[in-house]
Amino acid sequence: MANSSRVAWVTGGTGGIGSAICRSLAAEGYKVVAGYHNPEKAKAWLEEQKAAGFDNIDIAGVDLVDYDACVKGVKEIEEKHGPIAVLVNCAGITRDGTMKKMSPEQWHEVIDTNLNSVFNTCRSVIESMLEQQYGRIINISSINGRKGQFGQVNYAAAKAGMHGLTMSLAQETATKGITVNTVSPGYIATDMIMNIPEKVRESIRETIPVKRYGKPEEIGRLVAYLADEESGFITGANIDINGGQFMG
Ligand code: CAA
Repeated sequence: MANSSRVAWVTGGTGGIGSAICRSLAAEGYKVVAGYHNPEKAKAWLEEQKAAGFDNIDIAGVDLVDYDACVKGVKEIEEKHGPIAVLVNCAGITRDGTMKKMSPEQWHEVIDTNLNSVFNTCRSVIESMLEQQYGRIINISSINGRKGQFGQVNYAAAKAGMHGLTMSLAQETATKGITVNTVSPGYIATDMIMNIPEKVRESIRETIPVKRYGKPEEIGRLVAYLADEESGFITGANIDINGGQFMG
C-alpha cells in the first residue's frame, strides 16, 4: 500500500514541532490528523494549513491523559478517515523547576501528559495496527531524557520513560509489520524553548556544537523517513537530532 492511502495521527500536531511533522507527512501524501488541546487555536491552525495547500490535514481534539477518551478518539478518527497506520506521539509540556521547589502537581502533570499519554495512545491504536499487520509508531522524546537537565526531573523522567516503552513495544510487534522508534530532538526553535529565561537559553545555545537551535522542519523530515514503508528495518531505535549537543 502506498503511503498516500495511509492515516497518520500526530498528537500535539498543532504545536511547534508537531506542525512541521504534520506538514512533512502531508507532503508525502498521508491523510494527517493533528491532535490538539486548544480548540480555538486548532481551528485557526487548520485554516493556515489549508491556505498553505495542505488539504489532506484534519484536526481531532482528544484528551490524551484520559484513557477512555483516547479509545473513543481513535474510534472516531478511524470511522472518519480509516485505520491509523502511523502514530506520532508529539504532545508534551514542561513545568520546569528544581527538585526543592517542584510541587507534586508539576511532577504529575508532566508524567501524565508526556508519558502516561503515550501508553493511552499506543494501547488505543495497537489492536488496529495488529489487524492491519502494519504500523509505524514514533515517540518524540528529548535530548533531556538522554542526559538529564537542571530543572527538569519531571520532564527528563517522562522522556526517558518513553524510550523504555519504545524498546519494549518494538520487541512485542517486530514480527507484525509494526515498527516503534524514538526521536530525541535537542533544542528546537519553538515557543517551548523561547519560554526558557533568555540568559539560561543563551547559555544552553553556547553548548550546541553547531551553534544554533534546530528547525522544526528538521524533525519533520526524520519522522517522515521513519514513517515510510521502506524503513521497516529500523525498530526499537533512538535517533538523536540535536546539533551534536549530546552524543551518547
Ligand atoms: N547547572 C548548574 N547550576 C545551575 C544551572 C545549571 N544548568 N542553572 C542554574 N543553576 C544555579 C544558579 O546559578 C543558582 O545558583 P545559586 O543558588 O548558587 O545562586 C541556582 O542554580 C538557582 O536555583 P533555583 O532553584 O533558585 O533555580 P531558579 O528557580 O532560578 O530556576 C529553572 C530554575 C526554572 C529550572 C531555570 O534554571 C530554567 O528555566 N532552566 C532551564 C531548564 C531547561 O533547559 N528547560 C528546557 C525547556 S525546553 C524543553 O524541555 C524541550 C526539549 O526537549 C529540549
